[in-house]
Amino acid sequence: MRFDILTIVPELLESPLNHSIIQRAKDKKLVEIYIHNLRDYTTDKYRQVDDYQYGGGSGMVMMIEPVFKAIEKLKSERQYDEIIYTSPDGEKLTQKTANYYSLKKNIVILCGHYKGIDHRIREYLITKEISIGDYVLTGGELAAAVIIDSVVRIIPGVISDESSALDDSFQDNLIAAPVYTRPSDFNGWKVPDVLLSGNQKKIDEWRFDKSIERTKMLRPDLLDE
Ligand code: ADE
Repeated sequence: MRFDILTIVPELLESPLNHSIIQRAKDKKLVEIYIHNLRDYTTDKYRQVDDYQYGGGSGMVMMIEPVFKAIEKLKSERQYDEIIYTSPDGEKLTQKTANYYSLKKNIVILCGHYKGIDHRIREYLITKEISIGDYVLTGGELAAAVIIDSVVRIIPGVISDESSALDDSFQDNLIAAPVYTRPSDFNGWKVPDVLLSGNQKKIDEWRFDKSIERTKMLRPDLLDE
């Protein structure tokens, strides 16, 4: 799978995408991630990517030309399944969305800009708008990193324990059961006995019950879906 990210602040993306499971996925050649600086697609000497908005108003707006050039270049090299724009007014990212994209091949993500982008980009170039939640970030870079993280970790082969990604919270619309590790008794705070019992059937039942209990308590809305 391949991601091409278009941004005016590439530095914001480098660290989140160069560590841990994402780095491992890249090392295993299961994912390729390319970060493109939109300033490289400008033609003026100031490498300008935003400008004042028509009609007046505060804040700069991302210009269409560098975005168009970057997308055209990418599209001339391969076919893309989706051209995503990160925006607080997009469709909310869910586990279902992440599962869906984990089966795709080539995806472009255009990182939004704090004031907005020329609307023609959204009308003519973008195929999907995604929000990571009902709050406003200064730019779409962190949202792009969140989208990529949620997708990459479930690409088959990325997490070595195959079942582990499927046990995540939200995979079956349930919050995951609590987990514990050594020591089994920390200053009197004990791990539930059943997990030490060695009885796998009982453990599975306990986990399922806890999952339901925690979902009812923390996210009852998930049970209605
Ligand atoms: N850009 C700014 N806020 C955002 C959000 N909540 N989700 C995605 N992109 C954004």
